[in-house]
Amino acid sequence: MNFSSDTAAPAHPDVLAAMAEANAGPAPSYGNDARTEALRARLREIFETDDLAATVVTSGTGSNALALSLLTPGHGAVLCHEAAHIHEHERGAPEFFTGGAKLQLLEGDHGRIAMPALEAALAHRNPDFVHECPAFALSVSNLTEFGTAYSAEAVAARADAAKADGLSVHLDGARFANALAFTGASPAEMSWRAGVDALSLGFTKNGGISAEIVILFGETAAKFGELEARRKRAGLMPPKTRFTSAEALAMLKDGLWLTLAARANASARALAEGFAAIDGAEIVHPVEGNLVFARLPQPVIDRLQGEGAAFYPLGGDRVCRFVCSWATTEDEITALLDAART
Ligand SMILES: Cc1ncc(COP(=O)(O)O)c(C=O)c1O
Repeated sequence: MNFSSDTAAPAHPDVLAAMAEANAGPAPSYGNDARTEALRARLREIFETDDLAATVVTSGTGSNALALSLLTPGHGAVLCHEAAHIHEHERGAPEFFTGGAKLQLLEGDHGRIAMPALEAALAHRNPDFVHECPAFALSVSNLTEFGTAYSAEAVAARADAAKADGLSVHLDGARFANALAFTGASPAEMSWRAGVDALSLGFTKNGGISAEIVILFGETAAKFGELEARRKRAGLMPPKTRFTSAEALAMLKDGLWLTLAARANASARALAEGFAAIDGAEIVHPVEGNLVFARLPQPVIDRLQGEGAAFYPLGGDRVCRFVCSWATTEDEITALLDAART
């Protein structure tokens, strides 16, 4: 009964097989190999554009921080939700990689940036006033940190507002596939067609081992040389990139990434339905991906912990986070709900 994190899940067997297959003789290093080239070609197909540049890193934090460092100078700010991973859980990596940019926090229900909050921040922005720290980028997470999804239209609305004021747009897509599986949007609709300039596309939480891709779209793709220089300087350039690219290629083959994300999402829905039927339990955020946030009666929390279930109680108000992955089984969900009801 491990609902602690999707990063705790095993890798999908196809990913391991692809890495084993990549282990044949020598290959050019630092991303100059055939698999990394094939990955770029595949991304161009999947995102329906030749106007992209992509590179491979090995953590979501690195991917976010690197992307933001291209979009924001150290004397600027990044607008993001107050619960954004880049603010709460990256140990200042975005600030470090940008050379000191501030994160300017915005409110919004269920992890989604509220349009009025964004509009107010943009209205107050005055880059000509030398004493202020103006925003240069907006960062949106999809899925959000509370497991909710933005529709492609909702991303576009926020991106349009930001771009009207000259900001660039970053999307933290650590769970991008889960958002696509929930909304039914295409990768292109959820990214560059919605105005996203830089996407941190994650596979690690969805059956991969360590493949995280930074994708630059449109005019931002011209910054690829700078991206590579920053990636090297940050120590995010795996010498044996062929293995990381092999992982990503395996995830993208025959839609595996979307199949696995849809499976994880379905597990979360089943879990949430089970919790909702328990007296005194409450689902606190809409379950639109693979995360469930439930306020549970204390005896239920105690019982689950007593039975050895792994999950995170968050703070003092009995809200607990349960994360499903591609590998979550029906048996695990049944066992957890049985333990909760006993
Ligand atoms: C929304 C989001 N973005 C980024 C990350 C960072 O990923 P990593 O742990 O690989 O650095 C996480 C990890 O939990 C996340 O949930």
